Amino acid sequence: MELKLWLSFLLLHVIHVQSSSGQWLANVPARIPVVQGSCVVIPCSFNYPRPTSKQILNRWKGFWKDGKKFVSTTIPKWKLAEEYRRRTTFLGDLAARNCSMLLDGVRNTDVGPFYFRIEMPHYTSYSYTMNPVHIDVLRKPTPPSLSAEVKAKVTAYCSVTHPCPTNAPEFSWSQSGTASRRSKKLNTWQWKTISTLTFRLRPTTSNQTLNCTVRYRGGKQATSSMILPI
Ligand SMILES: *[C@@H]1O[C@H](CO)[C@@H](O)[C@H](O)[C@H]1NC(C)=O
Ligand SMILES: *[C@@H]1O[C@H](CO)[C@@H](O)[C@H](O)[C@H]1NC(C)=O
Ligand SMILES: *[C@@H]1O[C@H](CO)[C@@H](O)[C@H](O)[C@H]1NC(C)=O
Repeated sequence: MELKLWLSFLLLHVIHVQSSSGQWLANVPARIPVVQGSCVVIPCSFNYPRPTSKQILNRWKGFWKDGKKFVSTTIPKWKLAEEYRRRTTFLGDLAARNCSMLLDGVRNTDVGPFYFRIEMPHYTSYSYTMNPVHIDVLRKPTPPSLSAEVKAKVTAYCSVTHPCPTNAPEFSWSQSGTASRRSKKLNTWQWKTISTLTFRLRPTTSNQTLNCTVRYRGGKQATSSMILPI
């Protein structure tokens, strides 16, 4: 009887520990397209199996790595690989299990795979190599989406999706008018930035073309052109 009780206690305990403990899992997008020269915020959150000891976990160290190279870290003055120095910022808060990173001035060689690594003194260290992030570096950005509504005034919309909310692309129009820009988050890693232009049509017999040019951080640009449906 006593043994039976003890066994069921043990079983309950095991089930409890299994359900309350996390896995070694980093939540990251597998692949992100980024325009060359611009920037990307890699969103990242991580989980780990809870240690059995009740010891308070502190002095955690977070790293982003590319093979053996150090790309970014939470530790001040850590020696990062030369090619990534001054181009990365560790944005996440490890205590909140957030390991997001900003990579700026994206180069053709910044393809990854990048992975997160955590070091927890008094517990263990782990590299999330099973959850890598690949970057597709785009040498030529895709042209923006362009549309217009013609009523008493013309309202035109020009938009692109991008992975860098800290430096959204800039827009310019071939017509003068009133322009405004806004961004919205599409998912964990992608934002849509839309420029809206409002203007009055000039009296003319010929069709009017309207161009919208999007300029990414780093200088790459792409233009879309349309003929206004007059
Ligand atoms: C993680 O941190 C980044 C940068 O501060 C923030 O933008 C993002 O919303 C955070 N993610 C979560 C899931 O809280
Ligand atoms: C609009 O773009 C076209 C080519 O895409 C170009 O030929 C034309 O000059 C541009 N028009 C203006 C007003 O910028
Ligand atoms: C304006 O564009 C429409 C459609 O592209 C075309 O059918 C029409 O001939 C054009 N008009 C002028 C004046 O160019």
